[in-house]
Amino acid sequence: MKLWSGMLSGELDKLAEEFNDSIKIDKRLVYCDIEGSIAHVEMLGKNNIISDEEKEKIITGLSLIYKKLKEGKEEVDESYEDIHTFVEARLIEEIGPVGKKMHTARSRNDQVTTDFKLYLRNECENIIEDTKAYVEALIKLAEKNTKTIMPGYTHLQAAQAVTFAHHLCAYAMMGLRDIERIKSFRQRMNELPLGACALAGTTYDIGRDFVKEKLGFTSLMQNSMDAVSDRDYVIELSSIISLISIHLSRLSEELIIFSSQPYSFVRIDDKYSTGSSIMPQKKNPDMAELIRAKAARLIANTNQSMIMMKGLPLAYSKDMQEDKEGIFESIDTIRAMLKIMAGQIESLKVNKEKMLAASKEGYLNATDVADYLVGKNLPFRDAHHISARLVKYAMEKNLCLEDLPLEIYKNESDLFEEDIYQAIDLYTSVNKRDSLGGPSEKEVLRQIAYVKEKLER
Ligand code: ARG
Repeated sequence: MKLWSGMLSGELDKLAEEFNDSIKIDKRLVYCDIEGSIAHVEMLGKNNIISDEEKEKIITGLSLIYKKLKEGKEEVDESYEDIHTFVEARLIEEIGPVGKKMHTARSRNDQVTTDFKLYLRNECENIIEDTKAYVEALIKLAEKNTKTIMPGYTHLQAAQAVTFAHHLCAYAMMGLRDIERIKSFRQRMNELPLGACALAGTTYDIGRDFVKEKLGFTSLMQNSMDAVSDRDYVIELSSIISLISIHLSRLSEELIIFSSQPYSFVRIDDKYSTGSSIMPQKKNPDMAELIRAKAARLIANTNQSMIMMKGLPLAYSKDMQEDKEGIFESIDTIRAMLKIMAGQIESLKVNKEKMLAASKEGYLNATDVADYLVGKNLPFRDAHHISARLVKYAMEKNLCLEDLPLEIYKNESDLFEEDIYQAIDLYTSVNKRDSLGGPSEKEVLRQIAYVKEKLER
């Protein structure tokens, strides 16, 4: 029997019924639903809308169902329409007709969005924890690689020397922003919708503050139509998750490139690699590839939630039942992605020699040659041309800038002296770049300390 089978027959076409049911998706809201109902019923008792005795009976019944489910003595029965219907039916079964009083001064419309917010609030904590663990893994690896010279790229063309630690810290900073975003989202969405009822509030004297305090919300949604129609929070959290996934996807892309044979800068641990069924030598970075691919699903889920909402008139429409599947998938997936990425980073093998060799071959110190001349009062534009000619010459001879004899330098400009070799040494080059945010060892150690301090707070 349906909750709403008063005026209607309650008999839906078989396929229509399956189409309408949402319990397979929303059953994970069950504990939040019971928690919300307990607070609601306490309020009904307190305001004499139901008697104390009725209140006690309902709360005992709800607590019992909660306990049975938690202890695995019972499972959500998926033959019900949705999770709210299941809980109410089970309550009536458990304590008798008095259970029918629970839904006084409430509608599934304000109930579902309250449950959903409670659920997402918890998941925010989980995502924050997983993101922190991932950023910690980045920082740990960075600490071991503050002297590991590697090419920094623009256009994926070797540009200037950085260190692997500097590179990793870039991702750590993105992770810090991701954490901040979730935290501020959590505050923004911490407004209680319950009490809005179907859309137009209620005639009962409910006093919404009590439930707000009980459920740990910080404020009340101020308009009942907005309260039941709002899914901004789903779109916002989904967007934040998409952004985290974009960061993880970029890092994955780099792990894939840097672990490929021409680079061989890093080796992904076997725990996160697969072999080929035909080519015995193969070691494939499947996890990194899947992280990259799954980011697409998360972005698609964000799009789905936006497109689903954009044409809806106020207040509730059944379309909004389609608000959960995507975000649930996004939460589960981002949590797995963060954990797998943290594991990959923790177990990553770094080939410092390969990184250094690629840095030398990349003429990363060409800017330093120019800067050397600028230091001797040559205008930068002229210095740039001289450096470019030297690079061209070195390339033709298959040498790096460090290998060119002083006379070759002198042919281009007599400002060059023996100290040019010191000036273009890659370690010197990196450590000279100690402006705030730069790759010098001292500066990257500061960045690491900055991230650690932020994580502790
Ligand atoms: N399962 C529904 C959902 O998730 C609950 C709200 C039903 N409200 C209604 N007016 N039919 O949206």
